[in-house]
Amino acid sequence: MKILILNGPNLNMLGRREPGIYGSRSFDDFLPELRARFAGRADIEYAQSNHEGAIIDTLQLTDADAVVLNAGAYTHTSLAIADCIAAIKVPVTEVHISNVMAREPIRHTSLIAPVCRGTIAGFGLHSYTLAVEAAILACK
Ligand code: DQA
Repeated sequence: MKILILNGPNLNMLGRREPGIYGSRSFDDFLPELRARFAGRADIEYAQSNHEGAIIDTLQLTDADAVVLNAGAYTHTSLAIADCIAAIKVPVTEVHISNVMAREPIRHTSLIAPVCRGTIAGFGLHSYTLAVEAAILACK
């Protein structure tokens, strides 16, 4: 089974970006650990883009069985990404490192949540571990 983890804007700065909120570990450092945890169950592909259109292109073209998407701030603004998720057949699990519901009100709204299979938020980088589990369940 192939799972695509797709990170959106500013998530290339994990480890250096607001460490009090997002932690001090980069995603590149975390990814081998995540891949090892799911070895034999799922092949994890990884992509990141700061650009809304590139995120949409990646979603449209993916051949993965399921997607774990952290759309970053586009979560709260992008009807275009929501439309894309609704248009494709692959199940998408929404993920956030921080507990967005405990943050500023603007982060309480997700335009993509209604078209995702479910949402995992608030567990630091382990949100991705839980989201990959959820993604595996979503394609059974
Ligand atoms: C985030 C939460 C978003 O509100 C924020 O814009 C991000 C990261 C998270 O993983 O906690 O860029 O998606």
